[in-house]
Amino acid sequence: MNDLVQTSKDGDIGILTVNNPPVNALSPGVPEGILAGVEQFENDDTVKAIVLIGGGRTFIAGADIREFGKMTSGGDRKRGPGFNIILNRIESATKPVIAAIHGTALGGGLETAMACHYRVAVPSAQVGQPEVKLGIIPGAAGTQRLPRLAGVGKAVDMCAGGDPISAAEALKHGIIDRLVEGDLLQGAIAFAREKNGATRRTRDLNDKLVDEKTNAPILAAARDTARKRQRNLIAPLAAIDAVEAATKLPFDQGLERERELFQQCLFSDQSKALIHVFFGEREVAKIPGIGKDVAQIPVNKVAVIGAGTMGGGIAMVFANAGIPVLMKETDQAALDRGLATIKKNYANSVKKGRFTQQQMDERIARIQPTLSYDGFGERDMVVEAVFEGMALKKQIFGELDKVMKQGAILASNTSTLNIDEIASVTSRPEMVIGTHFFSPANVMRLLEIVRGKATSKEVIATCMALSKKIAKVGVLVGNCRGFVGNRMFHPYRREAQFLVEEGATVEAVDHALYNYGMAMGPLATGDLAGLDVGWRIRKEFGDTRNTSIRQPLIEDRLCEAGHYGQKTSSGWYKYDENRKPEHSAVADEIIEQARKQAGFTPRSIGADEIVERIIYALVNEGARILEEGLALRAVDIDIIYINGYGFPAYRGGPMWYADTVGLKKVYQRIQDFEKQHGSLWAPAPLLKRLAEEGKTFADFDKQVGQSAASATEARS
Ligand code: 3HC
Ligand code: NAI
Repeated sequence: MNDLVQTSKDGDIGILTVNNPPVNALSPGVPEGILAGVEQFENDDTVKAIVLIGGGRTFIAGADIREFGKMTSGGDRKRGPGFNIILNRIESATKPVIAAIHGTALGGGLETAMACHYRVAVPSAQVGQPEVKLGIIPGAAGTQRLPRLAGVGKAVDMCAGGDPISAAEALKHGIIDRLVEGDLLQGAIAFAREKNGATRRTRDLNDKLVDEKTNAPILAAARDTARKRQRNLIAPLAAIDAVEAATKLPFDQGLERERELFQQCLFSDQSKALIHVFFGEREVAKIPGIGKDVAQIPVNKVAVIGAGTMGGGIAMVFANAGIPVLMKETDQAALDRGLATIKKNYANSVKKGRFTQQQMDERIARIQPTLSYDGFGERDMVVEAVFEGMALKKQIFGELDKVMKQGAILASNTSTLNIDEIASVTSRPEMVIGTHFFSPANVMRLLEIVRGKATSKEVIATCMALSKKIAKVGVLVGNCRGFVGNRMFHPYRREAQFLVEEGATVEAVDHALYNYGMAMGPLATGDLAGLDVGWRIRKEFGDTRNTSIRQPLIEDRLCEAGHYGQKTSSGWYKYDENRKPEHSAVADEIIEQARKQAGFTPRSIGADEIVERIIYALVNEGARILEEGLALRAVDIDIIYINGYGFPAYRGGPMWYADTVGLKKVYQRIQDFEKQHGSLWAPAPLLKRLAEEGKTFADFDKQVGQSAASATEARS
């Protein structure tokens, strides 16, 4: 026995409580502690049955993910099978073992529960096999026991898809045996007594494995879905293979097959990248110098200005999180349009079964439309989302300074403008911050939180915490044109256009990036967002007048001729009424003229060069951003690109990907590009330094982490 698992008794029932906060992960000592507890109670004649429960906020949330890094870097490789031996031993216990689940039983947590003889859960509990989200498959018999409890269809769904299910659904599929209303431990103890000594090993329940004829189409359909929905990912297909093994092999051989597949996935680049993303999403919430001691401002009621594309989406985000919103527009028609779009979006979600009509009505009721500033004085925060123009933003912030109460947060959703200049018109720049949502705001997970030079720590801490409450991943960035994401997007899309000018076809550029794993090619993305958006910004900033630097010409020409992308049914592609892209002869002509103007004889360009040019442009700009301190860590950039720009999570983000390729190689290629294409490709000094020192962006992050920790120590 150890501190991680405690034993106690309630009459004739032995109780094992896992105590490894915050999520009772199966860190070294936890499985061993559970086994020691089971053995202790097996040898105790006064104990008739055993209940396994989680202390604190949850049952076991899975294997300790930090341990995987140790395993892949040459550490303790034997833990996987060791854990299986422990679970098999628990399953063979001579007294009934009952798992009592609250919070989440995920991955190894559900696998532990399935090795018990029975499972009971509170209605709010969730269970799942989320391993594929980390690029691995269940490695402790999840793919073998789950089909025996839930059937092959549900098991492939859960093991390949990775999404958790509710306790009610788990009950329906036989994964749990009873829902406990009220006190979980007492409910589990009562259940244990009812069993009257009867054990039931999951490995022996073969009925739901049925026969090959029934399973074959289920497995084929699952593979089809995985190839479509989890494009390029190896783990979902491996998970299906492992479940198939359960249907064809005896339990122990199936377990062996699962182990082989688990090891293959664990040692893949995809798994290393996805684990980096898992911890990265949590790391971005940690801001050096802003600890838990910084007070947060309660945000219970908000206001949004503008009910356009972004304002409407942002209002939905708050309403979804249960926060009432005042939504202001300039005239009734704009307000009605905005509300109608919100209702349409909600109705679509109801149609798709994401929530009920009643939930939709509740959400809409939280959004109060208005044409005046009445009631703004009671709001804790306002998010401005009017047209992108400095003069208008300044006018609005001047008005907000008058109507908002002291202590309220004044946020702008600007995507390019200087937050400090916007703040300068208020008497309280410390309360001004950028909250840069991504379109569609109610769908995209990213929220760039833009820190102005005067923004207070309290305002930053509040917005970081608020992002989690409104189901966003908040990443703190510095104030510069385009902030982090859009600033990097500029060279990314610039190179896509240059490649077309040099001879690549529009389709070749987009296919290369799509095959690399991007959700969409860069040119198709431009058509979707509207080519005119960038064109107007380039004109506002005077970019098009600077002739000493090579400028991408084609999009400006397309816009001058009225081809703005999907909204005009014509841009890089031609679109039919269903927005299906087709090759555009009109774009061909404009491309041809631009090539002539730039003096290019078209050459053939392969997919590898296309990917290198476009992705390394991201990396080089990312390195500059890091050096300028506009992003705190390389991983912050990775999380921005994965959650805001469709970058494939299994490549870990652009900076992690560069580490995977090797910074020396990336640096060399960037030097080649500088020779071929000029000063736009000057290597970022940080990249040069890291490459020459044989280091990685991950090493850079470690240093940031260490200096943040020592700064905290120095203060305390
Ligand atoms: N291992 C190690 N650390 C973990 C962990 C795990 N399985 N799960 C969570 N943590 C850490 C987080 O990194 C975070 O640390 P920090 O405070 O230092 O940043 C802390 O626990 C709290 O986590 P969250 O902030 O995510 O807490 P939430 O309450 O928002 O969410 C949760 C809780 C739903 C359990 C979520 O943490 C989660 O999804 N965890 C991962 C679950 C998972 O993937 N399990 C499967 C692991 S693989 C496995 O089991 C393989 C097996 O088949 C052998
Ligand atoms: P939009 O044109 O769809 O909506 C702007 C709305 O603001 C219009 O409905 C307009 O009537 C309203 N408005 C203008 N002046 C107003 C005033 N004084 N009071 C109240 N309402 C007023 O614009 P969109 O796309 O929603 O952009 C809004 C902001 O969000 C801009 O700053 C933009 O840069 C930023 N942004 C836009 C993204 C996008 O993809 N569209 C992504 C991220 C940020």
